[in-house]
Amino acid sequence: MALKVIVIGSGAREHAIAHTLLKGESVESVYCIPGNPGMEKDGIICVNLSTSNHAALVDFATEKKIDWVFVGPENPLIDGIVDEFESHGIKAFGPGKQAAQIEGSKNFAKELMKRHNIPTAEYRTFSDYESAADYVHSHGAPIVVKADGLAAGKGVTVALDEETAIAALNDIFVDRRFGDAGACVVIEDFLEGQEFSLMSFVRGNEFWTMPISQDHKRAYDGDKGPNTGGMGAYSPVPQISDETVAKAVETIVAPVTQGMADEGMPFNGVLYAGLIATADGPKVIEFNARFGDPETEVVLPKLKSDLGKAINAILSGEEPEFEWDTEKTTLGVVLAAEGYPGKPNKGFALHDIDLSSDPNAHIYAAGVARRGHDADEEAGIAGSAAGSAANADSAADSNCNLAASGGRVLLVETTADDIKQAQEKLYAIIENADTSGLFYRKDIGSKALAMSKK
Ligand code: AMP
Ligand code: GLY
Repeated sequence: MALKVIVIGSGAREHAIAHTLLKGESVESVYCIPGNPGMEKDGIICVNLSTSNHAALVDFATEKKIDWVFVGPENPLIDGIVDEFESHGIKAFGPGKQAAQIEGSKNFAKELMKRHNIPTAEYRTFSDYESAADYVHSHGAPIVVKADGLAAGKGVTVALDEETAIAALNDIFVDRRFGDAGACVVIEDFLEGQEFSLMSFVRGNEFWTMPISQDHKRAYDGDKGPNTGGMGAYSPVPQISDETVAKAVETIVAPVTQGMADEGMPFNGVLYAGLIATADGPKVIEFNARFGDPETEVVLPKLKSDLGKAINAILSGEEPEFEWDTEKTTLGVVLAAEGYPGKPNKGFALHDIDLSSDPNAHIYAAGVARRGHDADEEAGIAGSAAGSAANADSAADSNCNLAASGGRVLLVETTADDIKQAQEKLYAIIENADTSGLFYRKDIGSKALAMSKK
């Protein structure tokens, strides 16, 4: 087929998407815009264009005679990048601006779920501090406060007492910490149960589900510390039964895709359902209009068939083929820059991680820049202690031209027969590496391990 495709985005998720596309026979080349230099070892071609400059993206796709574009992150989707490509006759995999609101506005998602009887927490929406605070006092804790718009995973407060909920309202309405994303809040009931992520490839009212996975949102071991974009993931999730997954498909994925199609705003692309398995069955915590990160990095390695061929089929109105490994366990651990998610350090050199002990292991790069160039410029590290200490002893590494540029820096992933073996192999690799400047959770996958001991 010799497809030439673009992947938009720069994180470990886009690295996994691009790498999986290249593994299939149908894809000849993948341009990642803007990508990051840690991807290049896998043959991904990084192109330094801004994803907000839609005209430049269209020009590039036209000039390179691209077959289609796969959009990774939410911001360009919510900005309408897919509509822009399509208006120039370029095929793009992802929802248009209207359907992307399922992620862009929590209130939109909640109302959509209400209209289609999709199980989710009871909620109320407020646009001023006084009425929101009154509601918190009358409802009592635990209660969950969410800024309405995009807040990079940081706009949600799970308040176990009323004071915490009130403090969150203060942040949103008085200090305006999330700017316009906080012009409106959704306050919802606290749901109790195990979380899991169910992603599907969607074309209007048709969908093809992927294996489920579980993210670890909190920064530190034992689910302590602030919420992050996600510190690690694994798949499958043995504590979630097949019946629960089937029920989630029947009561959530099917009606939401059908509902959006019926309302004239069909969803195309990857639909991510962040779910919680409550005593009353699976309920929606959030929808995302794209692949999850880090879930993608543990789900896509399970795909045995050709991803590019399947996306091409979906975009061409044909039946795609997906064949998943259902036996093995995948595990991915994020190495984040110290200080993440608050003020992550930047600019320090990255050392090689030796994967020779495990042929199944792979590294996906996220907050990675070229040293002495983009990382230094961004971080202004000239006087940074972390930067100079790490730089001094990195000369022997082949990786020594790479530096950390952002919050989540790398994700190390492997596949094994079970979660215990996956943890042993993966943590041995990470512990043997020089991870100065980085931190990681040491308990990714342990909830599944606790389950398998029962
Ligand atoms: P979100 O950004 O909506 O995914 O929320 C971030 C995290 O907050 C989720 O992964 C959950 O751990 C937690 N959370 C969100 N909504 C609720 C809820 N209604 N009940 C309990 N936990 C929640
Ligand atoms: N891992 C959660 C997300 O991608 O939003």
